[in-house]
Amino acid sequence: MIIAIDGPAASGKGTLARRVAVHFGLRHLDTGALYRAVARDTLAQGGDLTSASIAAIAAARLDAATLRDPGLRTTGLGEAASVVARHPEVRAVLIEYQRNFARADPGAVIDGRDIGTVICPDADAKLFVTATPEERAHRRFLELKERDSGIEEEAVLADIRSRDDRDRNRAVAPLVQAEDAALLDTTNLAIDAAFRAAIDLIEAAMGRAGRAG
Ligand code: DC
Repeated sequence: MIIAIDGPAASGKGTLARRVAVHFGLRHLDTGALYRAVARDTLAQGGDLTSASIAAIAAARLDAATLRDPGLRTTGLGEAASVVARHPEVRAVLIEYQRNFARADPGAVIDGRDIGTVICPDADAKLFVTATPEERAHRRFLELKERDSGIEEEAVLADIRSRDDRDRNRAVAPLVQAEDAALLDTTNLAIDAAFRAAIDLIEAAMGRAGRAG
């Protein structure tokens, strides 16, 4: 069973994907970590993020054991990941890893930007998780404030908007809701309510595909 969860930055899709994976006994892959790791490794080698060939080499050499590095979750690497993610050469290198992960038993929950559209178009259930930019910025601001009391919500909102713009408007595999994905707007939902709504939508999708029960 493969469940595809896509959505913009700070929509809550990562937290939901982890919980959905536990609920159904599936493995979980956060594909944002792949792009963040490529950005990290490109920068560590003194490379230019806008160079497709240098970033593609970092993608080809990516060590999956480093994907759990907590240092990947910084705002700076999120922005940098969004820059390397524009290169078709980088995306092409990362496709195989993602599809192999999806196919391995017992199945997986995969979250990202293009899972339902490009990586796993035949997923058993697809969710597109979103929230208003203001709400996403507010959630991210509350998280970041724990570590940096000087952070400003306006600046977080500006980052979210620029990342949305880059991810939605790139030429290859842009962030877009797959035609057959269920929309889950978490703007007014706390995490437990969002989780229950996600499970209902996934079960409904699996029921339509004749897999429920
Ligand atoms: O989900 P995240 O914030 O960790 O993702 C970081 C960036 O990586 C995101 O802004 C765009 C890119 N990305 C992508 O292009 N495709 C994916 N499937 C996942 C992430």
